[in-house]
Amino acid sequence: MINRLFLLFIGFQLFNVILTENDDCLDLDGNCRDWIASDSNLCHSTEYITKSCRRSCSFCIHIPDKFDLTKLPSSLKPVAWLIGIWRSEHGGKAVFPTIPKFTYGEQIEFSLTDSHTVSSKSLNYTAFAWGINDRDELHSENGYLTVREGTNEVALTTVMSNGFVTIEEGPVKSNQIRLRVVDIGRISFSRDLPVHDLIREWTLLDSQTLQARLDMSTLTHGMQEHTFIRYKKIFP
Ligand SMILES: *[C@@H]1O[C@H](CO)[C@@H](O)[C@H](O)[C@H]1NC(C)=O
Repeated sequence: MINRLFLLFIGFQLFNVILTENDDCLDLDGNCRDWIASDSNLCHSTEYITKSCRRSCSFCIHIPDKFDLTKLPSSLKPVAWLIGIWRSEHGGKAVFPTIPKFTYGEQIEFSLTDSHTVSSKSLNYTAFAWGINDRDELHSENGYLTVREGTNEVALTTVMSNGFVTIEEGPVKSNQIRLRVVDIGRISFSRDLPVHDLIREWTLLDSQTLQARLDMSTLTHGMQEHTFIRYKKIFP
């Protein structure tokens, strides 16, 4: 037991070291990730990038395969800017006429799937939200973000902890994705009202800040903002 706790502790410390990597290990240019996503050879072939993009080139940090832009399949280039772990400790705001207003924290992750060398090309998407008073789980969702080859159209599938599954589609731009629900399923005994429409927008405000907005309409209420949150990039 003690051994296990100790290992857990060591693991946690290692994780901390990775997350609080010293300040020397930073990209000096905001375009590093875009350059490397477009051509990973640039880390070695272009002197300016070798010097300015030490972090994204993983010269000074270990980047696991699932976040490694040099392993990005070319069809996923349009969504490369989402790859990583994003977190807001307590900056989320949720409103809807049928619920009391509340704030929440959330961590989301976009990563390359284990099987990214075969079959369909998708990013793995996971999200976990907690209440800020008790830190209990509020909501979680998992799914895949797929780019339609050769286009700027993307599709997101999700399975949500509240008994919904969604298929959302829309265009991707260099710093924004705007998705609209094309199909939605709901378990028959969900406590949440049937959702009629849903628009989800992810916007990269700067290389370290991602904003998410979700508007929805339900059986009883028209289209309006439901959640709003700004995450900071915590890895890599
Ligand atoms: C998706 O990401 C989650 C969280 O990192 C991980 O547990 C899961 O194994 C991943 N799935 C695939 C197919 O890569």
